[in-house]
Amino acid sequence: MTTSKRHYHITTFGCQMNKADSERMAGVLEDMGFEWCEDPNNADVILYNTCTIRDNAEQKVYSYLGRQAKRKHEKPDLTLIVAGCVAQQEGEALLRRVPELDLVMGPQHANRLKDLLESVFDGNQVVATDSVHIIEDITQPRRDSKVTAWVNVIYGCNERCTYCVVPNVRGVEQSRTPSAIRAEMEELGRQGYKEVTLLGQNIDAYGRDLPGTTLEGRHLHNFTDLLYYVHDVPGIERLRFATSHPRYFTERLIKACAELPKVCEHFHIPFQSGDNELLKAMARGYTHEKYRRIIDTIRRYMPDASISADAIVGFPGETEAQFENTLKLVEDIGFDMLNTAAYSPRPGTPAALWDNQLSEEIKSDRLQRLNHLVNLKVAERSQRYFRRIEEVLVEDQNPKDQTQVMGRTGGNRLTFFSGDIKELQGQLVKVKITEVRPFSLTGEPVEVKQALFV
Ligand code: SAH
Ligand code: SF4
Ligand code: F3S
Repeated sequence: MTTSKRHYHITTFGCQMNKADSERMAGVLEDMGFEWCEDPNNADVILYNTCTIRDNAEQKVYSYLGRQAKRKHEKPDLTLIVAGCVAQQEGEALLRRVPELDLVMGPQHANRLKDLLESVFDGNQVVATDSVHIIEDITQPRRDSKVTAWVNVIYGCNERCTYCVVPNVRGVEQSRTPSAIRAEMEELGRQGYKEVTLLGQNIDAYGRDLPGTTLEGRHLHNFTDLLYYVHDVPGIERLRFATSHPRYFTERLIKACAELPKVCEHFHIPFQSGDNELLKAMARGYTHEKYRRIIDTIRRYMPDASISADAIVGFPGETEAQFENTLKLVEDIGFDMLNTAAYSPRPGTPAALWDNQLSEEIKSDRLQRLNHLVNLKVAERSQRYFRRIEEVLVEDQNPKDQTQVMGRTGGNRLTFFSGDIKELQGQLVKVKITEVRPFSLTGEPVEVKQALFV
């Protein structure tokens, strides 16, 4: 009997953290001899890397899973894995709900996928959700992009925002060492990557758990130090980072971003609410005045910086007037992007137990009103790019128009222009913006690196 190559499929839900974990798990699977396939229905190993930030994210997982659990009855050698945040939250309970599952593994176990799978292939049903020290990954991630890459700098979160499941499912903060981070970036530079996004749920907390790290005689203890330490990695032309917490955002970090040429002038700083009482109930640890001061300081150093954020409407007890304070903040700041969500009560979080929950009608009405304002404001912000020359790092072909390539400006606006991806992928191109839409731009290439267009 000939054994044909075995295939794996991964579907990823949720945030950049999950996307980065999926790329590492794909690397492990390829190392084990599996080959990627796009269609889960042709795969021998299916991995769902899941998100539980809101109820609808969690429900999506169950509907995907249900379909494959059925398929397993016709194909008993199918291996079904649930990884990520739903796995961590539900643990054993997932096996009761979907007994066809072979492996349930929390985010902290992503790097252990090979050992866990071997145990599955030995005939075990495995649940790995105990909290562990995250081991450094030795497998090469299979990255989706050839140009931009994620690099984790800190895992977990020690905050206790009253609405949020992340600390429950991602565990306590664990910073990677500066040398491991730099080594990964240097390897990326050698492989031709041009942009790195440093990742952490609360990136400003970087280093808190690494007391007194010293490198080449320099004391390294926080995220700003880390930026200075990695900004000159050869080959990497752009640096981004996410997510920042207003509580820890310092002027020193802002100065560093202004001073270091490779750091993009884009800041993702969720504010969640524009109302001080609500911020207190959320246990966010800052006021809207403090948030505004941060944005003012950023704009003082970098007048054109683009600012994005996350906000929640319909938090328990939110009054109409408090909601209007959020609208006011959005009106005043002028965000370049805003992720909005209606509050969703999550298991194991304090706010889910409060008796001042709002109705779904109020929540969805407020969400619509906020989104309406966001669309207007984002469109306004986009206007400033019209006729400007922006530097775009070309990532890919425009999937909707093969004569065009696409990439992002330093401020993170998706930009399209005509060109050949084979020549331009990974190039920084100066593009004159000729068309603006709220969330994307179109332009004409003016200059690729030093070579002028003729
Ligand atoms: N660490 C980041 C965000 C992590 S979760 C921070 O502190 O800002 C991403 C976003 O999901 C949050 O910013 C928040 O806006 C949203 N979110 C988290 N829990 C939520 C909940 N229970 N209901 C609705 N939105 C939620
Ligand atoms: Fe959740 Fe708050 Fe941690 Fe962000 S900082 S991940 S919102 S607990
Ligand atoms: Fe979701 Fe987990 Fe990220 S809950 S938002 S995938 S940390």
